[in-house]
Formats: sequence, C-alpha cells, structure tokens
Amino acid sequence: MARVRNRISVMHGVNLDALDRRPAEHYGGLTFTRLERRIDEFARGLGLAVQFFQTNFEGEYVEELHRATERSDGLLLNPGAWTHYSWAIRDALEVCGLPAVEVHLSDVEAREDFRRVSVIRDHCFTTVSGQGVEGYRVALEALKEHLQ
Ligand code: DQA
Repeated sequence: MARVRNRISVMHGVNLDALDRRPAEHYGGLTFTRLERRIDEFARGLGLAVQFFQTNFEGEYVEELHRATERSDGLLLNPGAWTHYSWAIRDALEVCGLPAVEVHLSDVEAREDFRRVSVIRDHCFTTVSGQGVEGYRVALEALKEHLQ
C-alpha cells in the first residue's frame, strides 16, 4: 500500500521572524512563535505532519528547497518580500518540483504595487492571501486535498 503523503514543510522567509514588530494593520501583532503554534494545531487537526523552516538568508532558503524532497510531500511557502522579486527562489522551487501553496498573511493585492507581483506563483498550485493566520489553515487544507 502506498505511504500516506502528509509531510508538509512550512517555509517562512525574510522578516517573518519579526512579525510582532511589523505593522499591526497588516500582521495583527502576531508573534512568530504563536503563528507556528497555530499552524501546528491546524496541521494536527488535518492529520498532517508539519516541519518549520525560517531564514533571513536567500541562499539558505534556496538550499532548503533543494533538500525538501528528502523529507516533504508538499510545501507551504511564505517567502515574505522575496516573493516579489527572487528569481533564484522561483528557480529553486522549479528544481524542487513538490506541490506548493503560496501564503501571505496580509492582502498583498491591496497594498503597494510591488506586492502584487509574485515570481513564485507559476510554481504554486494556489495562493492564499489576506486571511491572516487562518489562511494557513486554508492552505493546509488545499495541500491535503492535492496530496490525496
Ligand atoms: C507577506 C507579504 C509580503 O509582501 C511582505 O514582504 C512580507 C509578508 C505576508 O505574509 O503578508 O514579509 O508575505
């Protein structure tokens, strides 16, 4: 019988570790620890096993994507500002080839123009944005359905 595909890597990018010091109107004053705790709760409720990764270094994010197939079945990506311009991360995602969902806490379509661009979107099967921490639940549900 085939192994259940339920291993999800949650990959947070640049500045996500400083969430509670960022504008509360966009990020709700949420701490990064609290965010990861909530994601873990959502995942358990859905029968998914999450692993977390966060870095402020683009090359580390790229290398984690290169390694991701060794331990993950799917990806939940919030690369922060890299979303909008990092062709290196976009290419690493292509190399990785795992099903991926793009998530943003804030409504990137309703903010500055530069946030409307996502260079990773064409390698993600869906995007969830502007739903705060609940958006991660939506993203995990989408991944679960995709992996079944
Ligand atoms: C973000 C949106 C990005 O534009 C921003 O640079 C971030 C966080 C979000 O989760 O809303 O760092 O990805």
